[in-house]
Amino acid sequence: MPGTAPQQTDLDGMDGGVGLTALLVAAARAIETHRHDSLAQDVYAEHFVRAAPACTSWPVRIEQVPDKDDNPLWGRFARYFGLRTRVLDDFLLQAVGTSVRQVVLLGAGLDTRAFRLDWPADLVVFEIDRAGVLDFKQQVLTGLSAAPRAKRVPVPVDLREDWVTVLTTAGFDPAVPSVWLAEGLLFYLPGPAETYLIDTVDRLTTAGSALAFEAKLEKDLLAYRDSPIYTATREQIGIDLLLLFDTGPRPDSAGDLTAKGWSTSMHTPFDFTRRHGRGPVPEANDALEGNRWLFAHKPRP
Ligand SMILES: C[S@@+](CC[C@H](N)C(=O)[O-])C[C@H]1O[C@@H](n2cnc3c(N)ncnc32)[C@H](O)[C@@H]1O
Repeated sequence: MPGTAPQQTDLDGMDGGVGLTALLVAAARAIETHRHDSLAQDVYAEHFVRAAPACTSWPVRIEQVPDKDDNPLWGRFARYFGLRTRVLDDFLLQAVGTSVRQVVLLGAGLDTRAFRLDWPADLVVFEIDRAGVLDFKQQVLTGLSAAPRAKRVPVPVDLREDWVTVLTTAGFDPAVPSVWLAEGLLFYLPGPAETYLIDTVDRLTTAGSALAFEAKLEKDLLAYRDSPIYTATREQIGIDLLLLFDTGPRPDSAGDLTAKGWSTSMHTPFDFTRRHGRGPVPEANDALEGNRWLFAHKPRP
């Protein structure tokens, strides 16, 4: 990406910096998987957590958490990730329908949708993340002899660089419809990298394509520094999310997509808590208050 300086630490590994956040989401998915009222199932998630030296003391079942659902990190925050996983599983399967054959997971992390979801025949899942994350993921999946339910193409590249060439070289075809996902990603990227990403998704998609992403609308992220979620994440597992998030000005990506002719709808997570009858509900000093899930479709003529 021309003009954007790297701001993240530990660009290659899983054991620190932004790579560790992928493990946090995996631990949350493991916990969700084994809940009696589970919203999403990911049988691979706990294996990533167990394979990572940085997470030996992390729980993978809610029963392993002394204060269980009262724990802001492994209770409420993990449930948030469980709900997000379910909602975006549903989005992807619906958006793919019977005609789309390409899915692009941006900042895929330890997302195992290529292995978990019931995809149409011949579908290709491109997983973009940094090499260190994708290597670790591959190692664990190979150890489990996991078999993908779609053709899976890992695409190791940094999204602040020229990732388009790497993606198209890996086989992505801009001439046919595609479905894209940026789950838990955009707030780690500098604003210009997000703008570039949205412009690029628009440029690489034909009518009938779709995109979902997660955004944080707070004007001042630091205002939530002492929220129960951020405090627990910092104190219990040493991840200071506010140091990893990019705190520069954010573009209005939903507005940009609308201006480019996409139809968009924006929801709070709490909309889906109501729909599913479980999930996080609003609380005081809530780090999730500004979180939004955006669903966008590029209309057919
Ligand atoms: C919180 S994790 C979310 C992973 C996955 N989307 C999920 O929801 O399970 C954020 C992911 O974004 C990736 N990421 C952050 N910045 C990136 C960048 N500049 N280039 C590529 N990947 C990046 C991280 O490596 C990490 O895997």
